[in-house]
Amino acid sequence: MPSNLYYFEPCAAGVHVCNLAESYTLIPIARDAAQLPALELPAVLVVDAAEDDLLRLQKSAPKSSAWRIICLLDGESHPPAKLKSRIFAVLPREVPCLTLAKTIEKAFENLHAQEEHHRTRQELRRAVSDLETLNKIGVALSTERNTDSLLELILSKSREITSADAGSLYLVETESNGARHLVFKLTQNDSHSVPFRQFTMPIDTRSISGYAASTGQILNIKDAYRIRNLPFRLNRDFDQKFGYRTKSMMVIPMKNQKDEVIGVLQLINSKEHPGVKLTSPKIVGEEVVPFSQQSQDLASSLASQAAVALENNLLYRDIEKLFEGFVSASVTAIESRDPTTSGHSERVAKLTVALAETVDRLDSGPYKDIRFTRENIREIRYASILHDFGKVGVREEVLVKARKLYPPQLELIKKRFQYIRKSLELEGYRKKVEHLLRNGNQGFEECFALIDGDQNRELQNLDEFLQNIIQANEPTVLPEKVSEKLTQIAGWSFDDPSGPTESLLTQDELQLLSITKGSLNPEEREEIESHVKHSFKFLSQIPWTKELMRVPEIARAHHEKLNGSGYPYHMKSEDIPFQAKMMTISDIFDALTARDRPYKRAVPIDRALNIIGDEVKSQLLDPVLFNLFIDAKIYQLTAND
Ligand SMILES: [Fe+2]
Ligand SMILES: [Fe+2]
Repeated sequence: MPSNLYYFEPCAAGVHVCNLAESYTLIPIARDAAQLPALELPAVLVVDAAEDDLLRLQKSAPKSSAWRIICLLDGESHPPAKLKSRIFAVLPREVPCLTLAKTIEKAFENLHAQEEHHRTRQELRRAVSDLETLNKIGVALSTERNTDSLLELILSKSREITSADAGSLYLVETESNGARHLVFKLTQNDSHSVPFRQFTMPIDTRSISGYAASTGQILNIKDAYRIRNLPFRLNRDFDQKFGYRTKSMMVIPMKNQKDEVIGVLQLINSKEHPGVKLTSPKIVGEEVVPFSQQSQDLASSLASQAAVALENNLLYRDIEKLFEGFVSASVTAIESRDPTTSGHSERVAKLTVALAETVDRLDSGPYKDIRFTRENIREIRYASILHDFGKVGVREEVLVKARKLYPPQLELIKKRFQYIRKSLELEGYRKKVEHLLRNGNQGFEECFALIDGDQNRELQNLDEFLQNIIQANEPTVLPEKVSEKLTQIAGWSFDDPSGPTESLLTQDELQLLSITKGSLNPEEREEIESHVKHSFKFLSQIPWTKELMRVPEIARAHHEKLNGSGYPYHMKSEDIPFQAKMMTISDIFDALTARDRPYKRAVPIDRALNIIGDEVKSQLLDPVLFNLFIDAKIYQLTAND
């Protein structure tokens, strides 16, 4: 730090001042000079109050505080108020030499202390601002869930805090055989638009990024065209192709908490003025400076935070993938119990998500303010995929029941009828043998014809009964006359050789065959409908994250209808989550149009939309959502699935 000592000449203490030439830069000011010279600071001035030096100083005093006055007084004279804060000491004109020397020394010490104080405060201010910047970046990094956006954020913020014109980001990838390499993931350049092509490179010391990744060292290079004593050189292909000039460069390995390098940040051309574009070598020469130590500290601090955020992000993605895997395994489990609904859950999810995205884009109508975030859409997707999961709690035979009787029941009836047929035939033979034993062959022809006639009539009846039963067994609406016939059939009995006389149809069989519509009796229907409660119970046991918390609530309302006629909770419109209203439309549409049900023919799309339209008219389903389902042609999305 320079020590400039000014004094007016001639001066009462001039001789003493001149003795200090070895310690300070002495600068005399001519007392008769018209104007004071500009002071070179920091400076100490020895002035004589009696000679009006102070008044001259008062007129042109520097604004800075880096100067001090030592004032020599005589008699009653005193310094002007304006200069009071700059006066370090007031001494008598006849001051001893030693006293003056010590006072000057202390004045310079005081200036040095002030300078030190300023510097410390400035550094502190910069440190606080750096910390604030890093904190803000840290928060941004930790909240970004999308990996691509996170990589963009890491690179752009690193460039921002180091004023780097360009930069690239590499990630370390490990193959299944354990081999590791660098993947070029991202590049940014303020001065040129650069086409991007992902490529991989080995982790070794033959490239700049490979060197940083393999050694874990930060490289701070003043001029990338003059790399000395390192095993790599800059690949100038990019510079030649785009007329760019890569000069200063900083390469920072991103290390995770285990000190493993998981990526490399490469920052290029730190600029004096961040807004300037480096469009010519001349501008590069004027603008580009080496990356400062402060930039290096900041960027390496950011790289550490970025590495943790990135690792968390990848971990989060792994968890998501794991959960996706679990969800699709669950769906496979449900659908393998009931192969006739194969693909239903995925299709309902596809349709519902598409409907939600359509709602999200609306800018008019009653739902124009409804918006769905990426997380909301995931919530809808999971709720849709898992809406029927509760079917695992329904007995398989009920779940897949296609007709009124279970197949073994019908089989038993057929066997019973076969037995009766055989019994009738046997009875015929018995009667014929009895005739022959009693009458010989006399009149046997008429007798046999009689026996055969009776038997044929009974067998015909029996066949007719079985046909009625088979007809009644279909899940269509039961015609009244078939219903009457069933009661009649159940009234018939036959001799069971192992026990008492039995009815042609048991009470259970009669009850099932008398179902007026569909294939389920009330208990079975209740059991099927209970799948919703099972879904809710099962989904409620999953510790969903905050963003996915409503999955169970949405899934459990997928069979509810706006007027409260749905099941199992008979919710009214206002209690049904909006997402569930969308899912219900998709669910019904897919149930109607699904082509993979062997016993049920797929309803054509137009007819299915008409059926849903009728439900809308009956105020069961949301009309606005149904119109969107049609207008946005969402129903076409699963046509080829
Ligand atoms: Fe369902
Ligand atoms: Fe469903």
